Amino acid sequence: MARRLFVAVGEPLVNDPASFVEEAIRKLRADVPERTIVAASGGIDSTVAAVLTHRALGDRSRAVFVDTGLLRAGEVEQVGRFFAASHLPYHLVPAADRFFDALHGVGEPEEKRRRIGETFVRVFESEAEKFGCDRLVQGTIAPDWIESGGSLRDTIKTHHNVGGIPKDMRLTLVEPLRDLYKDEVRAVARYLEVPDSERQPFPGPGLAVRVNGPVTPERVRRVRVANAIVEEEVERAVAAHEIAPPWQYFAVLLPVRTVGVMGDNRVHGEAVVVRVVESVDAMTATAMALPRPVLARMSERITRALSGEVVRVLYDVTDKPPATIEWE
Ligand code: XMP
Repeated sequence: MARRLFVAVGEPLVNDPASFVEEAIRKLRADVPERTIVAASGGIDSTVAAVLTHRALGDRSRAVFVDTGLLRAGEVEQVGRFFAASHLPYHLVPAADRFFDALHGVGEPEEKRRRIGETFVRVFESEAEKFGCDRLVQGTIAPDWIESGGSLRDTIKTHHNVGGIPKDMRLTLVEPLRDLYKDEVRAVARYLEVPDSERQPFPGPGLAVRVNGPVTPERVRRVRVANAIVEEEVERAVAAHEIAPPWQYFAVLLPVRTVGVMGDNRVHGEAVVVRVVESVDAMTATAMALPRPVLARMSERITRALSGEVVRVLYDVTDKPPATIEWE
């Protein structure tokens, strides 16, 4: 079990995040004698790691945000706004072709994660070379490496930023948040004036784990369209006080051929699953009971926007356990 830095006895936290930040900056300066890049995904963990590194090293650090081609609709712009609000300068790397090449013909979920992890590392290696450094700062937090089998437990899943790292990586990893849990990262974020992320939790491997079966640009486009509709409808229902804000809500594309009707014809298309869950820490989750009209609107809009490509919409009613939140 990781050492807790702040011992939470109710609120507030016993130790001051200020002392964590001071110590982290001192350690970053020691661990990075020259320059480093920082893997910045737009999530709260990597943003806090990037802001800390920028405080410690200034222009000797460069936050790198990779457009994998597996991001959600509008995400590049949304992440850009979040970095701006966090006062974090960053470097955007367009790399969709590299990720789709690496995923070509791969359907097995753990192999997808492995290839995505490896592609991230190859992209970071070339960015590090351009920046003239051999260090990579990552926002890994305690549950990431615990779930990836870093302790004595079995691997629950291979987080791309831990188990997916190839053995021959040419960069030295620096992980300033390694001992923190999520609530502690949030406390540090508040102290550093990093705003709450607009984003719900989003897995590092992106839409690739929400496309069951082969990952092609075409199939990722389908799940991206469906996902945007699920997000809009959930957010509309929250704003109208029809439902409480869920923990996570998204679409998954299934590799089935199922039949629908278009006019007088039978057409075969794929199926989309809608997943909306309530949770506190993602370790357990409950499928949310969405009002029937919300589900009906999602189904109608998804099958219309993806006419002939997706002919059926399903709702996942399974809790975690026995299922997980993601489908892969
Ligand atoms: P599961 O599917 O295991 O997901 O119930 C629990 C939480 O973790 C997120 N998740 C990931 N996050 N890299 C990440 O950074 C990953 O490979 C990954 N897989 C799942 C998931 O979205 C949920 O919030």
